[in-house]
Amino acid sequence: MRGLILAGGFATRLRPLSCSKPKLLFPIVGVPLVESMARWLSSGGVDQIILAVNHLSDRLKIEVDQRVAGVTVAFSVEETPLGTAGPIRLAANLLGKDDPFFVTNGDIVSDIDIRRMLAMHEETKADATIALVSVRDPSPYGSVLTDSNGTVKKFEEKSAFFSATSLVNAGVYVLSPNIVRSIPSGRSVSLEKEVFPKLVRNGRMQAWIHNGFWYDIGRISEYVRANRELLEKQEPRAGEPEASQNGREILRPSYLGTQTRLGADSKVGPLTILSDNVTVGDEAIVRNSIVFEETSIGEKAIVEDSVIGERVVIGKESRIGHGSIIAGQLSIPGGSSVSPNSVILY
Ligand code: GTP
Repeated sequence: MRGLILAGGFATRLRPLSCSKPKLLFPIVGVPLVESMARWLSSGGVDQIILAVNHLSDRLKIEVDQRVAGVTVAFSVEETPLGTAGPIRLAANLLGKDDPFFVTNGDIVSDIDIRRMLAMHEETKADATIALVSVRDPSPYGSVLTDSNGTVKKFEEKSAFFSATSLVNAGVYVLSPNIVRSIPSGRSVSLEKEVFPKLVRNGRMQAWIHNGFWYDIGRISEYVRANRELLEKQEPRAGEPEASQNGREILRPSYLGTQTRLGADSKVGPLTILSDNVTVGDEAIVRNSIVFEETSIGEKAIVEDSVIGERVVIGKESRIGHGSIIAGQLSIPGGSSVSPNSVILY
């Protein structure tokens, strides 16, 4: 079975972290999002994923292997952004003509049961089946209204229009192959604004309601929440240092990637994720934070409630205030004091 991941957006809401790092490579508890999505899709029977890419596609092509979590990976590269439906048309040959396939936004961390979703799609013979989740505030998402049979009756993108429903588009769909040729080629086309409304008018769209874990990590607050929830669910890993050695202290739940180096008397956690190859200097403190790969935190530095991009160097005795975000590849000079809620771009 095939699955197409829409991964060509500009991820403006994740800036500055996304300026040089594609969303699909953002670490989710130390694992690149693309790998976490491939594991989820493969657990539901997907064995081939197509990455529909545009922005930062060169980096993705270099860093994503041809096989991820047992799934083969093919790229479909757009010369200009084609929106959310145009990439499906562009990848028509890779998707084939015979079987339904999955399409998912490239920022979903979820355990949606796609096997059962596909079974329902086949049973109802719909042209499209859309996964829905219930959220407290539907306004940033597309709201969806269904009848008692689960047929979608109304689809409204990012609006407060539906006060009657908290069910929103989870960004995960099963599409029948006949949809592909109905999408105009050679221009940007929106699934949500052009393709779905037509299917809804014709009664051809079905809903699959998901009640479990779901995050759209397209906003930094949601990215942090998803990581925290997953961290809290994780069992301690075998071999993980229990507590102190050389005065180091690791407070759970925390995640330490491979090749993480902790200096003497450093303190990490709780709720801290150090991705692969992160170095924490002697007597440094890192709490409630997510640190991307290859970043180095100098001795006696303090990092709290922050997200630090990849290959950042935080000089010794610096203090990074609560709620700060530091873009990748920056150097923060020793002794700096970064005020709370700062966003450091350069
Ligand atoms: P924002 O700029 O923060 O809105 O991020 P985004 O464009 O990455 O995300 P949005 O939620 O708007 O888009 C939903 C999904 O569609 C994301 O996974 C995007 O990567 C993807 N997407 C959006 N536009 C395009 C496009 O032109 N081409 C492709 N291939 N994917 C797209």
